[in-house]
Amino acid sequence: MAIILDGTTLANKIKSRLKIEIEKYINKYQIEPHLAVVLVGADPASETYVRFKEKASMQVGMKSTIIKKPADINEQELIEVIEELNNDPSVHGILLQLPIPKHINSEKVINSINYRKDVDGFANENVAKLSKNQDALVPCTPLGITRILDEYNIKTEGEHCVIIGRSQIVGKPMAQLMLQRNSTVTICHSRTMNIREITNQADILIAAIGKAHMVDESFVKDGAVVIDVGVSRVDGKLYGDVNFEKVETKASYITPMPGGVGPMTIACLLENTLKCYLDLVGEK
Ligand SMILES: NC(=O)c1ccc[n+]([C@@H]2O[C@H](COP(=O)([O-])OP(=O)(O)OC[C@H]3O[C@@H](n4cnc5c(N)ncnc54)[C@H](OP(=O)(O)O)[C@@H]3O)[C@@H](O)[C@H]2O)c1
Repeated sequence: MAIILDGTTLANKIKSRLKIEIEKYINKYQIEPHLAVVLVGADPASETYVRFKEKASMQVGMKSTIIKKPADINEQELIEVIEELNNDPSVHGILLQLPIPKHINSEKVINSINYRKDVDGFANENVAKLSKNQDALVPCTPLGITRILDEYNIKTEGEHCVIIGRSQIVGKPMAQLMLQRNSTVTICHSRTMNIREITNQADILIAAIGKAHMVDESFVKDGAVVIDVGVSRVDGKLYGDVNFEKVETKASYITPMPGGVGPMTIACLLENTLKCYLDLVGEK
């Protein structure tokens, strides 16, 4: 039986540490760290995620503001919202909740966020810095996964890490982080041939696909570390990409879903907001 990689407990530990640090910095600077979240439209899943983020910010003593805009807002109007936040000295972190409506070029809006307030690490400056191993704001989900690997002392150097998924949000930055940790990295995607042949070579298998329970025991080598990023809703029920019951008998470590990667994504969002704050108040 695999050891469960408990993201909820680790996220709570990080939040407790952040709460103490934030209190110290508020006393020092008399300025609260402030995360602004921009929500476009009324997608119920996005509304839930935004509420989680707001609640977590409050738990650690950060201010959180949600700016709601209608689904028919145009690109220029949305960029103006972002620019106002860029110019507001009381705002340290800006998050554009994705997805946004299709009539808006999300890349353009993301890149209008001041990279020093880009808590998601999606703006070009941060993507470039990450790829050059420079100090960057790193996307929260891959960052959270590295925190889990560290917490459980999982060896990455020389290990073969196979990532399923090549998105800007998870797959690609995950690959960069694992390269930084001296893993040998392979990325699979929807056009990959004979995917099981590749995933069966993985010492660390990271599934970021968005296909409920696609990864079963036939994808997994005995003793592999398995990280499930996926969240899919099917008939009102949430599923990971990994069929936990089938895979846990083969894996050495496995994240549950829920309770694995999700809480760590939020903990790392708070860490990134504090990082932006410290940069903007001149702490480092
Ligand atoms: N827990 C969290 O905090 C958290 C955070 C972020 C995302 N997520 C979840 O993680 C999942 C992935 O998110 P994302 O934003 O990276 O999604 P995405 O942008 O849709 O990317 C999915 C990736 O999976 C690949 N893929 C799709 N079907 C495949 C198949 N049959 N075989 C192999 N690869 C396949 C796609 O390949 P192509 O590139 O060829 O299309 C793509 O690269 C989603 O379920 C999302 O909800 C969870």
